[in-house]
Amino acid sequence: MDATLIRTINKLQDAFSTVGVHNPVDLPQIVVIGSQSSGKSSVLENIVGRDFLPRGSGIVTHDKKDSADDKKEPEEWGEFLHQPGVKYTDFNLIREEIVRDTEAKTGKNAGISPLPINLRIYSPNVLTLTLVDLPGLTKLPVGDQPKDIEKQIRDMIIKYVTKPNAIILAVTAANVDLANSDGLRLARDVDPEGARTIGVLTKVDLMDAGTDVVDILAGRVIPLRLGYVPVVNRGQRDIDTKKSISRSLDAERSFFENHAAYKSKAQYCGTPYLARKLNMILMHHIRNTLPEIKAKIQAALAKYMAELATLGDGMMEGAGQANIVLNIITEFCTEFRTVIDGNSTDLTSF
Ligand code: GDP
Ligand code: NA
Ligand code: MG
Repeated sequence: MDATLIRTINKLQDAFSTVGVHNPVDLPQIVVIGSQSSGKSSVLENIVGRDFLPRGSGIVTHDKKDSADDKKEPEEWGEFLHQPGVKYTDFNLIREEIVRDTEAKTGKNAGISPLPINLRIYSPNVLTLTLVDLPGLTKLPVGDQPKDIEKQIRDMIIKYVTKPNAIILAVTAANVDLANSDGLRLARDVDPEGARTIGVLTKVDLMDAGTDVVDILAGRVIPLRLGYVPVVNRGQRDIDTKKSISRSLDAERSFFENHAAYKSKAQYCGTPYLARKLNMILMHHIRNTLPEIKAKIQAALAKYMAELATLGDGMMEGAGQANIVLNIITEFCTEFRTVIDGNSTDLTSF
């Protein structure tokens, strides 16, 4: 995704929020759905650690002591909805929190409150976006879960995936029948055109010898417009032994590069490709909603200018802010035109 555009959009969001207008740009949400234990949280963990985040500082700097510019304010951080105001600048801690929160919600005593993990990523180089990790669809209530737990969860998931700004990662374990995928079924209900659904196949490493997902990837099983991405996440043992994200990504790459069925298409496999694909889709999303964004910006600006006018002179601070907003909008529109008119990458080239 074009770095300048991202920075401009983020600045635009920030500029508006300083004058009390929140989210003039409808932030895209990445929503992860699928059956229990299909690998949703693992996928989320991996993509948070990937190309969404710039290298070299902030969240992806695992050891701050190594960083020369220690005194700088953190520019990138993640914030969980369930811990408002707590800035996570260390990616490892984000990951631990995802794991901890998942365990709290799905553990043995699970009096599950069917709440999603809601993580927002802030960065100058990444479009501010929300990642939502939804609980799996439970078949039967266990322990002290409410009797209507399945319905509660389903209703909540539907609420999230129905939003037009939701990009759906429909996660299915590769070692189960795709036709039985809860995630895919639900995605099809709300996105029948498949305009914003990516199929993610996890646990490719756990498939029986001699079987593979090549037919699925080729669209010969359940075709999906945006296609499928096979991934290998950390297994339970890797989690228990705290295998690092970079090591697990290395292991994933070597799995696909050395597997007879995938090695010729290894660049279309794994977490890095999923992250690239997501970036492309986010870009499309923004392009498609450009008219709406413009209208919102104009309306917000008009309202703000009118308010400013009623305040009269002497409001130097307010006037200064209006100027900042105006400048950023101008910059934004220029950037956007460049992106749209320029020969930007087409999704279909993937
Ligand atoms: P969720 O319930 O859908 O969020 O699933 P989790 O991400 O918590 O994963 C459930 C279990 O499957 C964990 O023990 C993971 O380590 C394991 N797992 C997830 N993805 C993979 C994978 O690609 N390969 C292997 N071997 N294990 C995986
Ligand atoms: Na599923
Ligand atoms: Mg989970």
